[in-house]
Amino acid sequence: MSRLERDMATAAPERLPKVPVPPLKQTLDTYLKCVRHLVKDEQFQKTKAIVEKFGAPGGIGEVLQKKLLERREKTENWVYDYWLEDMYLSNRLALPVNSSPAMVFPKQPFKDGKDALSYAARLIRGVLEYKALIDARALPVEFARGQLAGTPLCMEQYSRLFTSYRYPGPKRDTLKVRVNPGTAASEHIIVACKNQFFALDVVTESKPLSETEIFSQLEKIVSMAGNAEEQCPPFGILTSDDRTEWARARDVLTKEQINMDSLVLIETCLSVLCLDEPSGTKATDSNRALQMLHGSGWEKNGANRWYDKSMQFVVGMDGICGVVCEHSAFEGVVLVQCSEYLTKHIARTTLEPAKPASGRKLPAPRRLVWKCNPQVQGLLVASKERLQRLVNNLDMDVFTFKDYGKEFIKKQKMSPDAFVQVALQLAFFKCNGKLVSTYESASIRRFRDGRVDNIRSATVEALAFVKCMTDERTTYTESEKMKRLRDAINAQTDYTIAAITGMAIDNHLLGLLKSAKELNMERPEIFCDETYLASNQFILSTSQVPTTVEMFCCYGPVVPNGYGACYNPQPDHMVFCVSSFWESTQTSSAVFVKALNEGLLEIRDLCDAVAKMADGRQGGSKPYRSGT
Ligand code: COA
Repeated sequence: MSRLERDMATAAPERLPKVPVPPLKQTLDTYLKCVRHLVKDEQFQKTKAIVEKFGAPGGIGEVLQKKLLERREKTENWVYDYWLEDMYLSNRLALPVNSSPAMVFPKQPFKDGKDALSYAARLIRGVLEYKALIDARALPVEFARGQLAGTPLCMEQYSRLFTSYRYPGPKRDTLKVRVNPGTAASEHIIVACKNQFFALDVVTESKPLSETEIFSQLEKIVSMAGNAEEQCPPFGILTSDDRTEWARARDVLTKEQINMDSLVLIETCLSVLCLDEPSGTKATDSNRALQMLHGSGWEKNGANRWYDKSMQFVVGMDGICGVVCEHSAFEGVVLVQCSEYLTKHIARTTLEPAKPASGRKLPAPRRLVWKCNPQVQGLLVASKERLQRLVNNLDMDVFTFKDYGKEFIKKQKMSPDAFVQVALQLAFFKCNGKLVSTYESASIRRFRDGRVDNIRSATVEALAFVKCMTDERTTYTESEKMKRLRDAINAQTDYTIAAITGMAIDNHLLGLLKSAKELNMERPEIFCDETYLASNQFILSTSQVPTTVEMFCCYGPVVPNGYGACYNPQPDHMVFCVSSFWESTQTSSAVFVKALNEGLLEIRDLCDAVAKMADGRQGGSKPYRSGT
């Protein structure tokens, strides 16, 4: 058996363990511990009584737990559908900013449009190669790194990268995954250019197009897109709207067969390629992130998108490039692996000027045509206004902290991820004088079809640490501060280990709630409680998305008064993408970034001071040797 075959066998989904259902008492105790210091005393006492009643012998908790354990037996992954629906499909908010993260690729030095098309052609060629690896199940199996390193990870998410589509629905969306399209004799992508959409066959008669062929097809598309007489209204804008609005608009559109035909082509494509007009802004990291997340609205590239499709590659004529992803099918880490493959593929050789196309006769790219009526016109205008509000609202600050990176943290014998989480808590406390419910995504890919659970980073130990770092009335010694820092980091690390081994509380509580619904019970009191509702408002929504090549991930906040904080720790620096909404008077990305920078420096100074003291003690206790 080859190494690859062995690896594949090890991580075949059916071989991986099933996600466990944690013991009920353990989850309820952890829940109380997580919220104790985040709510008022009186409220906590009320919550404690409700939780105790729920978990009492013979109580509702036991009934629901039993149901979950049965579900675990019967299904591959008991939490998968519950989680997918709760996290994504029932969420009615617009996909851009609120749900779809983006990877920002290195800025490209395009000299002209031809350069941009060469890059795009190479990118699409890379997509075809990567998809062939996925279809052949030839991607090397990944193994966990960091905490509890070495176990194989579930690879299922990769199979959804180019085969999924999120259909809008009036109450909930549907994620559809095409089964085994790898054997199809023809495959197409959708190219968006000047808000027009084109179907481009990239595999014909079972043969993928070469880079040169894709380039020549893209040139044709650019020329077709410029033809003013054939311009259709910018229908892509509808996909940027709230999901219920888009579902309604889609119902109207599908009344016409011509629209239905265009939709089917989009819904069955491998991916969307957005050839963007120059953004007209300076290509700072923050502006590039904004361009990826929302395309800067209707008048720029905001309608040159189709948000339901899982992978939308953006190639801007000004060299701003990246990928926007519809998140329900896979996690950011999978997006990173794919993006890194593609950027390495592009960088393998320098971009060549276009060569003449091969002799093969290729089907011409097809413009997608739409039938519009006054009702649809009205819907387009409404979607345009709502997207513009989102664009105006997003406050994004991409900050590269250059004073140290994860190597310094490892030297302190601390987990870099836990360290960053504690630093984010310190930053939040500096800005608000309190801690709030915090989400950190933790991968549960060690399990069959595993997605994520939540590390609740606003621990009581983190609160003790941030208080001692900011308390102006009491003077804490460096050793006292250091002890609290270590306690906070240990608590965070312990929670991380619990989460990645399937023992966190969020998925479990969700499962109990959904079980009650399935049993037609009234919503149990524990889930109506103010504390539970507040604890699910993640004012700080964080995620580590590390990369090994120069690129970064970004996303928006998940609540109106919240922050999104995506970070990418590198050996000697760390990139933070902090987002919030201008409309909230409680947040400011720049203020948060300033506090984060300050906090990271203060923690470093604390570590250095304590190390110096330890060195001094060691020096002082060294035995004296004559002659030295
Ligand atoms: N002393 C020295 N080094 C340490 C250490 C310590 N006490 N603790 C950890 N390290 C090292 C690790 O060995 C690892 O080394 P490596 O860089 O050589 O691999 C490195 O520090 C990083 O470990 P750590 O910072 O503890 O984090 P992690 O890699 O285990 O990551 C999570 C923690 C929660 C981010 C990770 O488990 C996870 O779930 N990632 C996925 C998140 C996700 O899904 N994001 C996308 C959402 S869309």
